Formats: sequence, structure tokens, C-alpha cells
Amino acid sequence: VALRVAVLASGRGSNLLAILERIRAGDVEAQVTLVAGDRPEAKVLEAAARAKVPAVAAVPPEPNETAAGYDLRLTSLVAADKPDLVVLAGFMRIVGPAMMAAFPNRIVNVHPSLLPSFRGLRAVRQAVDGGARVAGCTTHIVTPDLDGGPIILQAAIPVRPDEMEEHLARRILALEHLVLPRTVQLYAERRIQTEGKRAHIKPGASWLGRPGIPFVSGALYSEGF
Ligand code: GRF
Repeated sequence: VALRVAVLASGRGSNLLAILERIRAGDVEAQVTLVAGDRPEAKVLEAAARAKVPAVAAVPPEPNETAAGYDLRLTSLVAADKPDLVVLAGFMRIVGPAMMAAFPNRIVNVHPSLLPSFRGLRAVRQAVDGGARVAGCTTHIVTPDLDGGPIILQAAIPVRPDEMEEHLARRILALEHLVLPRTVQLYAERRIQTEGKRAHIKPGASWLGRPGIPFVSGALYSEGF
């Protein structure tokens, strides 16, 4: 039976759409059963509803609600849907202890840098300001160590001379649209094993060479694709 995936998101939803596209194409054996977001007006919620995701929930924090209270409320809503995996696709809040405890080693995030470089916000800006010659994105398991959890997959591209942040961010986003769905598929195939601070990917089928996968030419893909 397909992996049940809950997606938490706050923005335009291009990563959600990329996951749904790969599912539709038969490359990812999963079903997105819930999309929840903290911003009622976020485009991702409209996109989820349009894509007929069974449950779409706008969960804005209540006035005077503490971070802990919000964490508990969001966790119970997500847990009620019984996901096998929780995917943060541009979720702009820190995941709290209740969510972590409810889904140990089963929350993944996509970050627009080659971790452990450039953790935190404005990661692409950090890369450009730092003169990085190579940039990319990372999926990792979410732990209390912000952007420091066990790395699962990475993809990298050369940074063009004098490339602007917005342009590079768009090229990295195209990589995310491969790395995040591929990460979901590795979970669907039960190939992710955590050993302390590392995630181990068990051998199995590859996407490389498969028709219909929109690989980015010139990109370098880590083991596990
Ligand atoms: C992406 O830039 C991702 O790296 C970051 O949030 C953004 C999500 O974009 N975590 P979208 O909402 O999926 O289009």
C-alpha cells in the first residue's frame, strides 16, 4: 500500500506540486493525504485543494497561543491523518518537540544549500555572499538541531559568475523538485536507515536513465538517485 505522506508548507507550493507530479507519473509510490499550512492565504493550500488532496488544513496560530500550544495542536491534527512520513516543503516554522516525538526519524525537510554549509534562513543569499562556486539543495531528517539532522540526498550545480541570488534560487528550486520527491520514494522503498547522526541509504533501483524524470542538465546528484 502506498506510503501515506503529510506535507507541511507555508508558501507557493512548488515542492508539493513536484511531489504530486512524480506520484502521478508513477515514480513515487506514495499518496499525499494531508497538506497543512500555517498561513491561510498561502498558495500551497489552493494548489493542494485543486489537486484534490483529501485533507487540506489552514492552521494559523491562535492569538496568544504559545509555540508549545501550537506544536501540540498541529501535531494532533497531523497524527490524526496517520502519515508514514511528514514532509516539510517550505514550512517556515520550527518543528516543535511534540511533532518530533510523534514522528521520530519520519520528518524530512528540503533546504536550499549543500548542508552543513549555510544553515538557517536566506541560505542562497549566504552562498552568493560567500562567493560559493557550487551550490545546491539537501534533504535531511528533521531533528532539534536546526538544519543539522542526518542528510539523505543532495544535488549540486555550478554558480555562474556574478549570478544574482534570485536566479540561483530558481535553479536550486528546480533541483529541489527532484531531490524531495526522490527522498519520498526512498522512504516508500524503506531504504532509509538512521545510524546516529547519519542516514544510510540501502541499495535499490535508481531513477537515473528513467524516462520522464526532469533531471537538471549539468547537475551532480548524490548516491541514492
Ligand atoms: C524552497 O525554496 C525551499 O528550499 C524552502 O522553501 C521553499 C519552498 O518553496 N525550504 P515552495 O513553496 O515549495 O515553492
